[in-house]
Amino acid sequence: MEKVFALKNVKFHYKDSKRISRIFEDISFDIFSDEITALIGENGSGKTTVTKLMMGIIKPLQGNIYVFGRNIKEMSLGQIGKKVGYLFQNPERQLFATSVYEELSFVMEIKGYDKKYIDKEVSQTLKLLNLYHLKNDVPFFLSGGEKQRLALASILVNKPKYLVLDEPTTSLDIERKEILSNIIDKLRKEKIGTLIVSHDNQFIERHADRIIQLSKGEIVNDTRT
Ligand SMILES: Nc1ncnc2c1ncn2[C@@H]1O[C@H](COP(=O)(O)OP(=O)(O)OP(=O)(O)O)[C@@H](O)[C@H]1O
Ligand SMILES: [Mg+2]
Repeated sequence: MEKVFALKNVKFHYKDSKRISRIFEDISFDIFSDEITALIGENGSGKTTVTKLMMGIIKPLQGNIYVFGRNIKEMSLGQIGKKVGYLFQNPERQLFATSVYEELSFVMEIKGYDKKYIDKEVSQTLKLLNLYHLKNDVPFFLSGGEKQRLALASILVNKPKYLVLDEPTTSLDIERKEILSNIIDKLRKEKIGTLIVSHDNQFIERHADRIIQLSKGEIVNDTRT
């Protein structure tokens, strides 16, 4: 199994003017590519923080983080994002385009792909996530669940090798959750694994090969199911 992430003795504190949150003193773990790993733990245990560290969005005070064997200190956010797709806990923050279609086509246009190819890929991904009928809508005005699916679509259209999803089911109804489940199953068949941060036990039970539990910045449990 290929190693997607390796965290080695990572230390991280948030510092703002009022307080210091000591999140991780010394945390180490590996994540492997062709399995589904669930990251669980109480509110404030550091789940979102660890995913942001893994994506290079925030930097460790000490220790090292590797993505597919490369130290992220030597990588740009773009280089990390090209390999690993990241769904934010509040996905509206990652939506910026003026239409649902453009939200997906934008990056491909920058990369210089031809229009026909872009149209095929964008339409296919929008259909996969049940968003095609909204392709001309403004992302800002979509419902919470539609925004979440659009954020996921904009990640999938760029064909990442691995996915990190922070609370992906929170705004989804049963039907949409089923769509997401099917996508995760399909990706896994293509050997694209996922790290799922979640409080949704049913969802975790259905998908996870491995469950890592965080509590107060430490791993208190790490089991294969
Ligand atoms: N930008 C920030 N500045 C200071 N402290 C922060 C910041 N972001 C998070 N924290 C603190 O760090 C701790 C861990 O937060 P984090 O968001 O990683 O938790 P979480 O496990 O994802 O929680 P949840 O289940 O609620 O999403 C919390 O105590 C939180 O208050
Ligand atoms: Mg969180």
